[in-house]
Amino acid sequence: MANIVLVGAQWGDEGKGKVIDLLTERADFIVRSQGGANAGHTVAIGDDEFVLHLIPSGILHPGKQCIIGNGVVLDPQALIEEIDTLTSKGVQIEGNLAISEATNVIMPYHKLLDGLREKLKGEGAIGTTLRGISPAYMDKVGYVGIRAVDLLDEAAFRRKLEMNLVEKNLLLAKLYDHEPLEADAVVEEYRGYTARIGRYVTNTEIILNRAIAEGKEILFEGAQGTLLDVDHGSYPFVTASSTTAGGACTGSGVGPTKIDMVMGVAKAYTSRVGGGPFPTEFTPEDDFVDRRADREYGATTGRTRRCGWFDAVVVNHSVRVNGLDAIALTKLDVMDNCERVKICVAYDDGGRRITDFPIDTAVLARVTPIYEEMDGWMAPTKHIRAYDELPANARAYVERLEALIGTPAKIISVGMKRAETIFVGTMPGEA
Ligand code: GDP
Ligand code: IMO
Ligand code: MG
Repeated sequence: MANIVLVGAQWGDEGKGKVIDLLTERADFIVRSQGGANAGHTVAIGDDEFVLHLIPSGILHPGKQCIIGNGVVLDPQALIEEIDTLTSKGVQIEGNLAISEATNVIMPYHKLLDGLREKLKGEGAIGTTLRGISPAYMDKVGYVGIRAVDLLDEAAFRRKLEMNLVEKNLLLAKLYDHEPLEADAVVEEYRGYTARIGRYVTNTEIILNRAIAEGKEILFEGAQGTLLDVDHGSYPFVTASSTTAGGACTGSGVGPTKIDMVMGVAKAYTSRVGGGPFPTEFTPEDDFVDRRADREYGATTGRTRRCGWFDAVVVNHSVRVNGLDAIALTKLDVMDNCERVKICVAYDDGGRRITDFPIDTAVLARVTPIYEEMDGWMAPTKHIRAYDELPANARAYVERLEALIGTPAKIISVGMKRAETIFVGTMPGEA
């Protein structure tokens, strides 16, 4: 294999967990470089199902080295819960996990402020996962973040915490009428966390670059999706990190010259969870998705996902801002019973045809999609393992998507299980 960056090409939940699981077989290291416990990556192995939030999904493959990079915001409580759940299912964590010293730590006030700020926004709420993500990144770029390395030095941790609490407690009291947080209680709580996870904290930038020098192969596991990127997404309805390919480099300390391939994961349709504009969202008549059976409810928050048609304007934007070499197209099987299928090829903005994704969210909110329609395939696809065996109309649909986004689908997923996959042509690093 090669060093691959995998990113979500839509609004998250594209099925990255499954694709990461497929690609992990060929990798030595799997790295999370952004986001936090807002992610929920589902991996089905046999009859068992795992949902990973913070630990790279590669942990499910014995012996793979998993790294939580500097770009992540780490909730120690969520990490410990995840370690315990995985351990109880027989997954080996010890020896296979490392956390960057520079990873910013989520503090109790981050989670608290996430909820309070959302409430204050009322109608304009983003619909965050309430995991403290944006407040933690605000502190990181505000130069007051507490980093994983600070957990290892209690005096330094207390000093930074007390400095933070001056401002946070004023905010809590004056703006939110909330009682203050006590430094002693937080220090004690985090002392307990450090006892559990302190041993994983190390210089992961050195580990990764040495591994690359030795010819080891790295898979960068993206979280969220391109349209949630803080710069390139549907701002302000985004998440606080760089979910696009560049984030893999800044969030891990690996330079762009070491990346061989960028792959995007896109659903054969589209989904989004939380607020914000969504041009191709289904009308009730079009909506063919069974939220339960087709797993369109949040893996992290349990919220129902909004669903819609494939939006080539959105995925073209992803192709550009990530420099996608290929896509993995997931959940094709969910469309098996559609008589007619639609693809959004452009937007109509009061008579003006737009094909470039609009940066102004007000434009995104008012456009109407221009659709192309095709006949569906009306046949099961879950059992199919070779591209040529897909029904002709399914192939026509995939090929139309490929043409519209100018990017080949190297992997087509037709079910949540590992085996329910069609590989098209050679994979990176294969002859
Ligand atoms: P992620 O956040 O991108 O990893 O995606 P999630 O795990 O949040 O959501 C994707 C859901 O779809 C999960 O329940 C997967 O098990 C499921 N899934 C993934 N690929 C396929 C597929 O090809 N077909 C079907 N039917 N389900 C899939
Ligand atoms: P995975 O990795 C889908 C969304 C939230 C909200 C916005 C901001 O499973 O694809 P945040 O808590 O990050 O401040 O919320 O981003 N969001 C996701 N949507 N999949 C995710 O992760 C998401 N992580 C955050 O719903 O709209
Ligand atoms: Mg998810």
